[in-house]
Amino acid sequence: MTEIRATNITWHEGHVSRADREKLLGQKGATIWFTGLSGSGKSTIAFTVEHALVERGHLAYVGDGDNIRHGLNKNLGFSAADREENIRRIGEVAKLFADAGVIMLTSFISPYRKDRDQARKIHEEAGLTFIEIFVDVPIDKCEQRDPKGLYKKAREALAAGKGMGFTGVDDPYEPPLKPELVIHNDQITPQEAAAQVLACLEQKGLLTK
Ligand code: ADX
Repeated sequence: MTEIRATNITWHEGHVSRADREKLLGQKGATIWFTGLSGSGKSTIAFTVEHALVERGHLAYVGDGDNIRHGLNKNLGFSAADREENIRRIGEVAKLFADAGVIMLTSFISPYRKDRDQARKIHEEAGLTFIEIFVDVPIDKCEQRDPKGLYKKAREALAAGKGMGFTGVDDPYEPPLKPELVIHNDQITPQEAAAQVLACLEQKGLLTK
């Protein structure tokens, strides 16, 4: 866990409450945390859910691993320490968005259980809903799809005796033990997967208009 380094800092409470923002938006702020292997379809589902929510008049926003690594997290690579920091930062950003009343959809491999658990913890401590969704696709299916050609690269690097620390090939993926939802995304369309997520949000009472 990262400790606060600064001294002489004081929390300053605003005049608008989370409940005020949620009333304004007709929804409860929450983080919907997608985890799964590269190529499992996390981002496709997250963007489909975002679209469906906005069409229904709800405010949703996707934080996508590849995209966030172009900006906020551009100084991070794929070492274990960098992946941990990647997830720590997006966990904090997601918490801010959720506190702002947004339905935040995060799409990161987030391979390490303890990092996802930490993201959950900071949400729950703040009274915010955190929904972990495991996009479960067997690695051989992800590898067949290989939309970015990265599994091929990773196998070639491994065969050349170098390795590139690619998740599922030569870097670990720890599946969630108690996710709120598991999507078996090798058998359904993005629309069907999104419908499962939307049903979960309804069931949790997040959509109040
Ligand atoms: S995480 O492990 O830190 O959560 P993140 O979701 O941000 O990863 O980024 C994963 C994306 O980066 C993959 O979908 C893939 O496009 C790309 N990528 C590049 N190198 C690697 C690697 N060594 N392991 C996993 N993904 C990689």
